[in-house]
Amino acid sequence: MLDVSSCKLSFGGVKAVDDVSLRVEPGSITGLIGTNGAGKTTLFNVISGFLKADAGSIRFMDRDITARDPSEIAKLGILRTFQTPVGFPRMTVMENMLVFSRHDRDRRSSPFSPARVPAETLEAASAILADFGLYQKRDVWAEDLSAPDLKMLEFARAMMAGPVLLMLDEPAAGVNPALIESLASRIRALRDQGVSFLLVDHNLKFVCNVCDRIFAMADGRIIAEGTPDEVIADQKVLELYIGKSAKTDLQ
Ligand SMILES: Nc1ncnc2c1ncn2[C@@H]1O[C@H](COP(=O)(O)OP(=O)(O)OP(=O)(O)O)[C@@H](O)[C@H]1O
Ligand SMILES: [Mg+2]
Repeated sequence: MLDVSSCKLSFGGVKAVDDVSLRVEPGSITGLIGTNGAGKTTLFNVISGFLKADAGSIRFMDRDITARDPSEIAKLGILRTFQTPVGFPRMTVMENMLVFSRHDRDRRSSPFSPARVPAETLEAASAILADFGLYQKRDVWAEDLSAPDLKMLEFARAMMAGPVLLMLDEPAAGVNPALIESLASRIRALRDQGVSFLLVDHNLKFVCNVCDRIFAMADGRIIAEGTPDEVIADQKVLELYIGKSAKTDLQ
């Protein structure tokens, strides 16, 4: 579905993405792990068109999407969330959802006025909000949401655009541990409905639990790839997360 091939992007002397190749298979939940500064978010920015790669190519469903604009990439079905949720703070939760509706764009109606939005679009938004536990807060301004709720709104809003591939940057960060299992169930349920996922998170238990396949990144490079069990057992990954001395102690 997504084929990233030999992508590179440097910021001055920092090779944030250094010859990365990665694939996301249709219907998969693919994880991307790595310690702070590994280059995960930069890779997301390159795939979604927010940053242009210095080299390499990206194909999505047999189309070359290298260096296309973010809006074009989104129209093709790749949606992404941001590590720090961005939204429209001075709009309500429902209005935030409606901005992402393809239906509204097609009909050229104002996304800012729920009264002018077709009933089926409002119903779709309401159903998604209910699913994400945000329906009761539909009239709250986004700026008044708690950080975890804002994170959920970011995810819920992306669903309004009917993603084929949804890229989630740290969906579990700041989420109450008791709610992480329901987040995992929601991702699996959406996958069963046909959405493929590429997700970054520091919560390895969550990533291993929800993902079919994982790529591990360090210093801009992919250092391991495989099933969760394979990647967690990989020596380079162990060294990254536990440290060389701890690993020696384990032997
Ligand atoms: N806009 C930028 N300008 C300069 N350097 C940047 C920029 N964005 C990222 N970097 C650098 O690129 C490297 C990769 O950063 P990136 O944010 O992609 O890491 P990450 O894996 O997402 O980390 P984290 O887990 O902390 O979110 C880091 O060294 C970072 O400081
Ligand atoms: Mg990041």
